[in-house]
Parts: sequence; structure tokens; C-alpha cells
Amino acid sequence: MASDPSVRSAATSPRFARGGKDTFFSYKNDEMHAEGVPLVTIAAQVGTPFYCYSAGALRAAWQEFADGIKGMRANVCYAMKANSNLAVVRLFGELGAGSDIVSVGELQRALAAGIPAGRIVYSGVGKKPSELMAALQAGVGQINVESTAELETLNAVAGQLGVRADITIRVNPDVDAGTHEKITTGRKENKFGIDIDLARDAFALAGRLPHLRVRGVAMHLGSQIDSLEPYRGAIGRVRELIAQLRTDGHSIERFDIGGGLGIVYSDERPPSVAEFLHMVDKETSGLGCELTFEPGRRLVGEAGVLVGEVILVKPGVPKTFVIVDAAMNDLIRPTLYEAWHEIQPVRQRPHAATIRCDIVGPICESGDFLAQDRDLPPLAAGDLIVVRSAGAYGAVMASTYNSRPLAPEVMVDGTRFAVVRPRPTIEEMLSAERFPPWMESAKS
Ligand code: LLP
Repeated sequence: MASDPSVRSAATSPRFARGGKDTFFSYKNDEMHAEGVPLVTIAAQVGTPFYCYSAGALRAAWQEFADGIKGMRANVCYAMKANSNLAVVRLFGELGAGSDIVSVGELQRALAAGIPAGRIVYSGVGKKPSELMAALQAGVGQINVESTAELETLNAVAGQLGVRADITIRVNPDVDAGTHEKITTGRKENKFGIDIDLARDAFALAGRLPHLRVRGVAMHLGSQIDSLEPYRGAIGRVRELIAQLRTDGHSIERFDIGGGLGIVYSDERPPSVAEFLHMVDKETSGLGCELTFEPGRRLVGEAGVLVGEVILVKPGVPKTFVIVDAAMNDLIRPTLYEAWHEIQPVRQRPHAATIRCDIVGPICESGDFLAQDRDLPPLAAGDLIVVRSAGAYGAVMASTYNSRPLAPEVMVDGTRFAVVRPRPTIEEMLSAERFPPWMESAKS
């Protein structure tokens, strides 16, 4: 996870040095555009803060996976927890994606976005019987089971419905993904998956349960992984397990590799999707398994930005605070994971001197910051700023803390844009709440 405290100005940012990838969000005449639309135009229409997604960038990210799996027996189930906006999910669905879901809410979203149930994989460490039932009734293609208790529960629920559930068992291969501790999942001390050393017993149990059909093995190592090594190590361990399981009499046809491939926030150099898929193809060769990939962040992260407006600038010693109308409730990653998101002014001033500042929200907590110790051209009230690489785990992790309405989401496609989730009015927010009947005011 990026937590690089070093200071960079927009002009020297490695993102700019890389070239190529920034075609979807770029300056034209010193104004930041999303594809063909100036962000200032969207701001004028929808107000700030807002999330903006580039359909072109989403398609380009998908295409890297589509190209990479050509010739492999593999499918890609978009991990919609990264960004579950219906328009985003539908865009991927129309390109052939399945969905990786973790709740009934995501199940309903995937179905509403047109994802065929058979292309849905249901992951998660604590699925309730009611959720398992909804998934089976919908006909999801695969349930990734993470504990022996869940095997028993799922067997019972499937029995009640008179069906057999297609499952994989998620194993925990005890591999360090080298990422932020809050988003690493494949080490023994993490709550996820069944310890690889206990996996044979779990498969034996699953094999005895009449309403389960064991199809394969699943893993997921963590998120924002910027090296191939953890995957290589884990695949090696799972390969050995698959060999043992086959000796034990299980037919293992599927291997779900999970998600986790990292993106660029600052100066990370994550492997290309092609390199990643090529490595997986090589490491799984001869295994005879159909592969599933569950990318989330890699498909949406760099395809989205958060745009905010400067409310006021508070000069201080030793640094200046730029107070903007986007806050930790809109994007919690900086304060939750010490994540580094690039901040740029929407109107560029290429030769302006920079000042060191913190970009903070208006919420009454010192943890309410989007960026600390950045060198940016001087900003003034009314200026717009853009927070980059905010397409993943941005809007989906937002809250209404301080009664701040959820920031709207906008999708741009070429020169068109549309609001794909409007900003709720305060009245709408309040109308969801009730006074208890015994309160005097409620009776009047
Ligand atoms: N599959 C499973 C089973 C997962 O748990 C996850 C993410 C994914 C796939 C997708 O991982 P991705 O490709 O997006 O890395 N909120 C955190 C990230 C949490 C990831 C949780 N699991 C953040 O903002 O960094």
C-alpha cells in the first residue's frame, strides 16, 4: 500500500513521467478533462464533491484481462466490492465479465446490472443462511466456502431447497502478499480461508455432504499486491494440495486465483496484467483446471477520480491547510490505510511555484485528510482539485458521517457524461428516519 510521505508536485509526478496511461484523465488547455469532458463542466452541473469514472478507462482495463486470458481456460469475475455502481457493473457485464460478490446486496446489484447468475461467484468469510439461500435460489455459479461450519450450513440450506451447490473451498496458503496489513488476507493469522494444512479434512467433509458438489479450490492473497512472487508461491502450494486432493479422490476442475493485483497510486510498479496472466498460465500449466480471476481494483481504480472544491485556505506554520469539500467520509483510504492518492488542481498552472500543504476535509477529526505534506501550486477558494486513482474502494466505502450526503457518481464516455448515482438531498436522507411513536412531537 502506498504510504510514501515524500512530496511531489504534479509536474514531477511519476504518473506523468509514465505517459500513455493518462489519456483518460488529462490536461487539455491546462484544464483537466475526463476523456472529452472538462471536469469543470461536470462540476458546474452536479456540484462538488463528485466521483467521475471514465468508461474508456474501464474498457481499456477490461481489455487487458480479455486479451491476457485468450487461449487460457479462464474467466474473469469482477470483484464488485471495489465499485458496485450499477453502470460500472453493467459495462463490465456487457464485455463478458462475471461478478465476484460478497453479500446479498451485491447479488441483487449484479443481477440488476444484467450479470447472468451462472457467472456469479459468491465469496466471503461469514455468509448467513439467508444469504446462502438467496444465492442458491438465484442460481449463482459458484460459492467459495471458507470454513467447515459454512460447509455444514450450506449443505443444510441446499438440502432444504432440494439442490446441490457448486462450491470451491477457499484455502489460506499462508503467503505474505507484502501489502498493507489491513488488506492482506493470505497469511495464517488472517481470518480468511481454511488453513492449507487443514484443507484435506475440509474437502473430505465436503465430499461426504450430499448437497454439495466440490468443483475446486479458491484463494485470495490480499489487495494492492505489486509483485508476482506471492502469487507464484501460493499457486505452488495450492498445486501440491490439488495433487493430494486428487489422490484423495476429489475431482478438482476449478482453481479460483482471487484478485489483488495492484495499481499505480504514486510510484508503484505493479506487474502488467499480461505479465500476471502469463505467469499464472505458466504456473498452472498441466493442472487441467479452469481458472477464475477476481480483479477489483485493477479494473476500476485508475478509471475514477474524486473531484472537490476548495472551501478556504488556512495558512499556518509549518504548513498550509487547504480545506476542500471532499472529506474522509467520501474517500476513507488515506486515513484508514495511510494510502497515497495523487492530488492535482483541475486548472493547471505549469510554472507556478508550489506551497507545502495538507488537503483536508471539513469533518471535525484530525484524521480527516485526503493528503498530507504535498507541494501544490497555490490554491484558492473556489478552485477544483482532483484526487486520482479513486475508482476503487472510493464511493463504495463512503458514509454520510456529519450528515454529508453521499457524493454523486458520474460516468463519462467520450464527450458524453451522465450522473449514474445522484447526490441524495438532505430531505431524502432525513426521510429514511423515524421518531419513536412515544415521542410527543411524533403525535402531532
Ligand atoms: N476476491 C476476494 C475474495 C476479495 O476479498 C477481494 C478484495 C477481491 C477479490 C478483489 O481484490 P482487488 O483486486 O480489488 O485487490 N478497501 C481496501 C481493499 C479491500 C479488498 C478486499 N478484498 C482498499 O481500499 O485498499
